[in-house]
Amino acid sequence: MPSLYSSSAALVGALALLRTTHAQDFATNCSSLLDQINIENVTAYAADYITAQVVSTDLCCVQMNVTTSEQSGIRLEAWFPQNYTGRFLSTGNGGDGGCIQYPDLDYTTSLGFAAVGANNGHDGMTGVPFLNNPDVITDFAWRSLHTGVVVGEQLPALFYGAPQNKSYYLGCSTGGRQGWTVVQNFPEDFNGVLAGAPAMASTDLPYWSGSFLPVTGNEDADTFVPTEIATDNVLENPDLCGFDPTPLICADGNTTDCLTETQAETVPTVLSAIYDENGELVYPRMQPGAEVLAGALQWNGQPFGITQEWWRYVIYNDTTWDPSTLTIADYHVAKEQNPANVETFNGDISAFQSTGGKVLHYHGLMDMLISSENSKRYYNLVQETMGMDSSELDDFYRFFGISGMSHCGGGDGAYKIGNVADGVAGTSADENVLIALVQWVEEGVAPEVVRGADANETFWRAHCKWPLTNKYVGPGDYEEESAWQCS
Ligand SMILES: *[C@@H]1O[C@H](CO)[C@@H](O)[C@H](O)[C@H]1NC(C)=O
Ligand SMILES: *[C@@H]1O[C@H](CO)[C@@H](O)[C@H](O)[C@H]1NC(C)=O
Ligand SMILES: *[C@@H]1O[C@H](CO)[C@@H](O)[C@H](O)[C@H]1NC(C)=O
Ligand SMILES: *[C@@H]1O[C@H](CO)[C@@H](O)[C@H](O)[C@H]1NC(C)=O
Ligand SMILES: *[C@@H]1O[C@H](CO)[C@@H](O)[C@H](O)[C@H]1NC(C)=O
Ligand SMILES: *[C@@H]1O[C@H](CO)[C@@H](O)[C@H](O)[C@H]1NC(C)=O
Ligand SMILES: *[C@@H]1O[C@H](CO)[C@@H](O)[C@H](O)[C@H]1NC(C)=O
Ligand SMILES: *[C@@H]1O[C@H](CO)[C@@H](O)[C@H](O)[C@H]1NC(C)=O
Repeated sequence: MPSLYSSSAALVGALALLRTTHAQDFATNCSSLLDQINIENVTAYAADYITAQVVSTDLCCVQMNVTTSEQSGIRLEAWFPQNYTGRFLSTGNGGDGGCIQYPDLDYTTSLGFAAVGANNGHDGMTGVPFLNNPDVITDFAWRSLHTGVVVGEQLPALFYGAPQNKSYYLGCSTGGRQGWTVVQNFPEDFNGVLAGAPAMASTDLPYWSGSFLPVTGNEDADTFVPTEIATDNVLENPDLCGFDPTPLICADGNTTDCLTETQAETVPTVLSAIYDENGELVYPRMQPGAEVLAGALQWNGQPFGITQEWWRYVIYNDTTWDPSTLTIADYHVAKEQNPANVETFNGDISAFQSTGGKVLHYHGLMDMLISSENSKRYYNLVQETMGMDSSELDDFYRFFGISGMSHCGGGDGAYKIGNVADGVAGTSADENVLIALVQWVEEGVAPEVVRGADANETFWRAHCKWPLTNKYVGPGDYEEESAWQCS
């Protein structure tokens, strides 16, 4: 009879051997995947087993080029984790880019998703490749993401021997808009969509962010307001705020810590909604609470790069177009063009609803690049277009404002909701917005709140489902989660 010790040692040894064999199997399967991929327009050129020393979990990484037109194509990667959960996930992009978002692939594969990411039709973060190439613009508007899904969803069956059970999307900013493109136009692509701070209404947005420079002027202009004149904190409900700069106007000749009358006219203009000459809303106001960040990035007297490139390389095919000349006439040109329907502002999402799909939309309430007011505007548009009240939308579309989150992450508040790799404070459904979406899709348990932790994870806040907003009711200080109530 072997002793208890030696039999358990043998068991441990056998298990270790099994794990090693399993890993070898997995690596072998990975390298043989390359020959199995035979899909029209797809050139797969690498399949590598990558271990958790390099990425967060052991996985098989496949690299492909996919032709999307005679003059464009995408670069696509598919990451297959060894700890697969049967779930497929597609990631999005950012700005005018251009880059596979590796942190998103790493984060979502670490949670067991088979994940794909594409370069959105061109490499790099600049919009130069849009110039004179409408096909590259079409890839950026919708075709890269959709192609990545069409190709990507064929791969788990090849690699794991069975197709995925469910299909998800995660993206923010341009990635948030891409998520909405799919909800509006390809309702079959995903069972669950997590779309953050969407750059939607994307012919309105470049006018809004382009409109600041002609108002502020450059740093030397007497209309320019240096941002040292503001201070800040977290606003739970920016809707309650209006801002009147009049008390800040200089009382005497000394203009050191105060506004001149000319500067005081700049302030409400950059904070206000924009209307066209017919009184139609172009873009809602910057939500109060993001002034310091917006001052540094958008009201800094410099052209805003992403926007300038959009006007130059997409709308005008003119590399010398001058951003300080922007007027409402340019807005109408862009609106008319709406290249490849990049606008992404259709309020009828009934086709997505009919598939049983769920969309979880969030937006930081101190977002300095894309106003969260625009997300509320879209929510209202869906309500009006579909003739539904919030409780009816709740079945398939929920929107959460995240106080203290800036653009897609970071910020002074409880922004760590699990939407991006550097904003994760937990992986259970009540700590992580992606897992909450999975629970909604797979178990029918919909999130009532989205919980997040602050940068140092010293406190949590339950962010409310719009149109509810948080109210402080006490007892305890602001860090006490139970001191806040949605109403
Ligand atoms: C490798 O592929 C075979 C055949 O498709 C499959 O049965 C096996 O489970 C795979 N092994 C691993 C570790 O993925
Ligand atoms: C797979 O998941 C299990 C349980 O969630 C975890 O303990 C293990 O470390 C994971 N393995 C890898 C290789 O990521
Ligand atoms: C993939 O596409 C890139 C351009 O995006 C090109 O440089 C590269 O040579 C292509 N690779 C293969 C194997 O076709
Ligand atoms: C392959 O690419 C061409 C454009 O180059 C396109 O017309 C065709 O529809 C694509 N095929 C598939 C299956 O996507
Ligand atoms: C999902 O897919 C995996 C792998 O293909 C399978 O083993 C599992 O049973 C499925 N799970 C559910 C809940 O359908
Ligand atoms: C930009 O150039 C392309 C290719 O020459 C052309 O198809 C497109 O219509 C042009 N766009 C504008 C706004 O001139
Ligand atoms: C102007 O005001 C600042 C601060 O309010 C003060 O430090 C400075 O001495 C004043 N300058 C003059 C010329 O009065
Ligand atoms: C987080 O902690 C660091 C060091 O303890 C501190 O300097 C920082 O101010 C804290 N950040 C927040 C947002 O509380």
